Amino acid sequence: MSDCRRIAIYPGTFDPVHNGHLDIIERAARLFDKLIVAAGSYDGKRTLFSLEERAELLRAVCGHLDNVEVDSFSGLLTDYVRGAGAVVIVKGLRTADDFQSEQQMAMMNRHLLPEADTLLLMTSPEAMYISSTLIKEVQALGGDVGGLVPPVVAEALARKNGQA
Ligand code: PNS
Repeated sequence: MSDCRRIAIYPGTFDPVHNGHLDIIERAARLFDKLIVAAGSYDGKRTLFSLEERAELLRAVCGHLDNVEVDSFSGLLTDYVRGAGAVVIVKGLRTADDFQSEQQMAMMNRHLLPEADTLLLMTSPEAMYISSTLIKEVQALGGDVGGLVPPVVAEALARKNGQA
């Protein structure tokens, strides 16, 4: 029997996962039979959390979603998407600035893997200003990131910065 389930991949750096990501994960999970949230790495980008730590935090915050799997990948996203048998790449869109880069990546990915489409989901209004970069900055400077990240992520950030 062939597997006709619609699989989508939500790739990202997730350094670390925040409530804006979780919003996209929960909404995308409703649209597909299976959603794979895949933490990616590439050599040019320095991250606060290792690839394993980022995937571990994602697992911790996605546990309530039955059709969501967490994974990590290195190398080309399109190779990973092909290997997973996915038909859609999900990305979140906050601002017009995001659109520029997401459009470019979507077109490159389409060039590399024409059979997969990129689906851009607009971030919910309450999460539009949240970014992993700002969260790390605010937290490192002693600001309160409660309400912006799940508690397990706030704890991990505090541990990283020697505050817990
Ligand atoms: O958190 P981000 O910046 O939205 O995630 C970017 C990510 C990890 C999805 C992107 O950097 C990526 O796809 N990396 C894998 C390498 C790759 O395929 N590069 C070409 C992308 S067009």
